[in-house]
Amino acid sequence: MRAIVYERGGDVSVLRLVDRPVPEPGPGEVLVRLAVAGVNPTDWKSRQQGPSAGGWQIPGQDGAGVVEAVGEGVDRALTGERMWVWEAAWQRPWGTAAEYTVVPVRQAVPLGDASFDLGACLGIPFLTAHRCLTAGEFVPDALHAGALADHTVLVQGGAGAVGNAAIQLARWADATVVATVSSPEKAQLAAAAGADHVINYREQDVVAEVRAIAPEGVHTVVEVSAARNAATDVQVLRGGGAVCVYADDGGDEVTLPIRPLMVPNARWQFVLVYTEPKAAKAQAVTDVAAAVAQGAIRVGEAAGLPLHHHPLDATAAAHRAVENSVVGRVLLTTTSE
Ligand SMILES: NC(=O)c1ccc[n+]([C@@H]2O[C@H](COP(=O)([O-])OP(=O)(O)OC[C@H]3O[C@@H](n4cnc5c(N)ncnc54)[C@H](OP(=O)(O)O)[C@@H]3O)[C@@H](O)[C@H]2O)c1
Repeated sequence: MRAIVYERGGDVSVLRLVDRPVPEPGPGEVLVRLAVAGVNPTDWKSRQQGPSAGGWQIPGQDGAGVVEAVGEGVDRALTGERMWVWEAAWQRPWGTAAEYTVVPVRQAVPLGDASFDLGACLGIPFLTAHRCLTAGEFVPDALHAGALADHTVLVQGGAGAVGNAAIQLARWADATVVATVSSPEKAQLAAAAGADHVINYREQDVVAEVRAIAPEGVHTVVEVSAARNAATDVQVLRGGGAVCVYADDGGDEVTLPIRPLMVPNARWQFVLVYTEPKAAKAQAVTDVAAAVAQGAIRVGEAAGLPLHHHPLDATAAAHRAVENSVVGRVLLTTTSE
């Protein structure tokens, strides 16, 4: 198979296109012939560090394709099923920047009739967004239509990949969604994703705008830039609310005022999708799959998530685009046909 491999950490020059034998699925695993792979910031950050266990690494956590073979103990009926895969490269070398990947069967999820593009956009952003939306104390552990009725969610960075996923999942769950953005173009994308209210944080007073929409404050903040937004988040949180921090964009330290957070029993919840509790991850996979089956998740410009396709042999350009914060999702076409 054709695959992109790196054997040491560094810039995109460490990425090489190679020919490798198609891997065999081991016990409990499935072999997926990939059609599309998603590229996320985690892929270039991991590439900079190099293969975690020494040796070599195919980058890419997310992808979608068709099950070609199954290992011992796995239901043979899965063969031929269209699937999306998540965390393919987490503590494993078989990432999705290749024609095939092998993953434990729980990391391959039926895609139904949804497109491979959509399937390749699900893993990292949607599972992260699910955790952010459900980690608070007074929110349900599971999402479904109606689950967040009467809840208000503030998504900081509504035109980002995780921000888009948070808007889509929260709207599916019937929350009122407020999103912040930095430009009119990004405002259009956040609105297209389904945000009920969009605030340009460069031009508007976010605290005043959010308080006008939700006088008692918001239940959840989905936070991409805690270092920059902490003071705002403190002022818009309602009693028992949670700020769910999933990134250190814009600064890696945060200072919090104790009393204004202590009085309302507020929660600051840090989120890393890879290491979140297993039960929460399993629930996220179930709920995201259900949202897909119900047609509640969309991708593309009309859904606030422009797609940028690259061929597999242009993976370096794809990584560079994500590193440079391209707006939307970067995808690799992994089939050679
Ligand atoms: N913890 C986890 O498990 C996890 C999972 C997925 C991603 N991440 C991390 O999350 C970050 C974002 O990932 P992504 O794929 O969503 O990237 P992305 O598509 O580039 O989105 C980042 C968004 O954040 C916005 N932003 C930056 N500073 C902001 C601020 N002060 N206020 C409001 N919005 C702000 C950006 O727009 P403007 O700059 O124009 O505002 C952009 O729309 C990356 O660092 C990634 O590594 C972590």
